[in-house]
Amino acid sequence: MASRFPAAWLDELRSRSDIIQVVSGYVALKKSGRNYWGLCPFHGEKTASFSVDPEQQLYYCFGCKAGGNVFSFIMDMERLNFGEAVELLADRAHMPMPEMVNDEDYERRRTRRERLLDANRRAARYYHELLFRPEGAASLAYLRKRGLSDGVIRKFGLGAAPNGWTALTDYMTGQGFTLEELSAVGLTVVKPPEGGSGKTRAFDMFRNRAIFPIIDMYKNVLAFGGRSLDGQEPKYLNTSDTPVFNKRKGVYAANLLRQQRHLDRVILVEGYMDVVSLSQFGVEGVCATLGTALTNEQARLLRRFAPQVYLGYDGDSAGQNAILRGLNIFDEEGIPARVLVFPDGLDPDEFIRRDGVEGFRQLPSISPTAYRLRRAKEKHDLSDREGRLAYAREGLGVLDRLDPLERDVYLKDLEIDTGFSRETLMEMLSLLDREKKDAPAAEAPPPRRRPAPPPKAASPADGDVSAQETLLSCLATGQIPKDMLSEKDFDDDELKSLYSSLISGMSPAAALDLAPDDEARSRYARILLYPVAEDTDQIMIMASQCLKRIHRASLQREYDEKQSRINAMPAGDPAVPALLQEMMDIRRRLDAIR
Ligand code: CTP
Ligand code: MN
Repeated sequence: MASRFPAAWLDELRSRSDIIQVVSGYVALKKSGRNYWGLCPFHGEKTASFSVDPEQQLYYCFGCKAGGNVFSFIMDMERLNFGEAVELLADRAHMPMPEMVNDEDYERRRTRRERLLDANRRAARYYHELLFRPEGAASLAYLRKRGLSDGVIRKFGLGAAPNGWTALTDYMTGQGFTLEELSAVGLTVVKPPEGGSGKTRAFDMFRNRAIFPIIDMYKNVLAFGGRSLDGQEPKYLNTSDTPVFNKRKGVYAANLLRQQRHLDRVILVEGYMDVVSLSQFGVEGVCATLGTALTNEQARLLRRFAPQVYLGYDGDSAGQNAILRGLNIFDEEGIPARVLVFPDGLDPDEFIRRDGVEGFRQLPSISPTAYRLRRAKEKHDLSDREGRLAYAREGLGVLDRLDPLERDVYLKDLEIDTGFSRETLMEMLSLLDREKKDAPAAEAPPPRRRPAPPPKAASPADGDVSAQETLLSCLATGQIPKDMLSEKDFDDDELKSLYSSLISGMSPAAALDLAPDDEARSRYARILLYPVAEDTDQIMIMASQCLKRIHRASLQREYDEKQSRINAMPAGDPAVPALLQEMMDIRRRLDAIR
């Protein structure tokens, strides 16, 4: 049964909880232009990139891209869920809590997500409780054999999936969940009937495995990883993407990162077991990707917990290659990173068991450049002239992207390793620079810092997304006529939904509460805070330019579709002339817009 706060009451609370005042309780703000600025409380920084807009009542960090309204600010600062954040603010504003209302539409949307999360939470609790009962004995023995203490087992909520076919499914249906829901979150595999008289078959996804629940920073259980006990394949079975879980967006142990305030670094490792094991030895701030290569979204998430990231991937060759890819991603996002190299091909879990926490703390961390040079060096035989030359070339390619000061440090190493004089190396560097200017697109290493926001992927048949976003920024000022645009002008669901919120008269701050997830909320905040011009005429001009670009992109798309249909047709197809005619019409309309 989901009910919600009455919209009018929430609006009242929002207007009594001025965002500048609330944020000022945590962050020193300074006014500059229309907005207030301060050091972002969600990631470590030395120059202020956290902006708060008193007019729209929103905040957005240009560094870590955290964004939202007064409610999400409190949720993030105080680690509360929405209802708790509302309560806290109501208390501060001396507003009595309202009668909850039922809102069918809201309820339907909310209930599905809430029910699925509830299913996961109960399953996690069930698995955890079984671990200490006879049915979980095998899993418990396994975890103990891996050296885990009961304390750390509880801290991570580890569990046991018993060795039967339907234990969890039976329990959960007994708790009132439907097979459809259990299958949607990936807990139950549902097979349609075979043949005429067969019945639907349903069985547990996780059987005879130790369970690692994946919990997000708001303590929602999103998914599970299951470790086989007896060498069965796959070694880890993970929940695939579901309506409540996207493995590219989260990290394992985000719930714990959240509780560890003022971390000076996050350690990113490969495995669940590495996280649990390091944590048992008292290492803080450890997390892992979820069985995939690091994504840009995950990198940005990590920045919210600490100012820099240490990559602690496995010492095997797969792990070491993943480091090179990971470093590029942190470069792209402008996040300072360092590398922990585990000796002897060990993974962090094996290493800390062998050398203890002291060994771990003494493990040197090396800079991305030093790491890249080291990897390049390993490839070449430096006792050989050709080898030294090849290494010099490759090493200079690494240094090429550095600023001059940093370059200087590493040039010395390169000088020693290759025997080439500094002058020769410098000369080659400037040659490289020139080549790069001549052929900018060729396999250039990623730029060192990329301040521009990453392109937000929309539908593949993308229209002009940035024009669509700017158009919404204009709409949010409330200074353009609403009938100037329509839902058709937007390509993806997130933008369509923000459009309909704004069009229905919702304030920008209220619209943020409807963002489907963290990433979307940050996108909304960025759009709504976009500094559009002050006066109405300029806003109108901006909006109509955006509309032109959008219409042009969509006509162009239509044109291209027809073109490729024609290309796919056999010569002389009778449909061609009509299509050509339509293309000419589109061309004419395109010309008219210009
Ligand atoms: N992984 C996976 N599926 C597999 C193997 C690995 O999803 N079949 C993911 C898991 O998230 C795992 C991580 O990749 O934690 C690292 O894999 P690996 O290094 O093979 O495992 P360890 O973490 O060392 O696991 P263990 O110590 O339990 O062997
Ligand atoms: Mn391991």
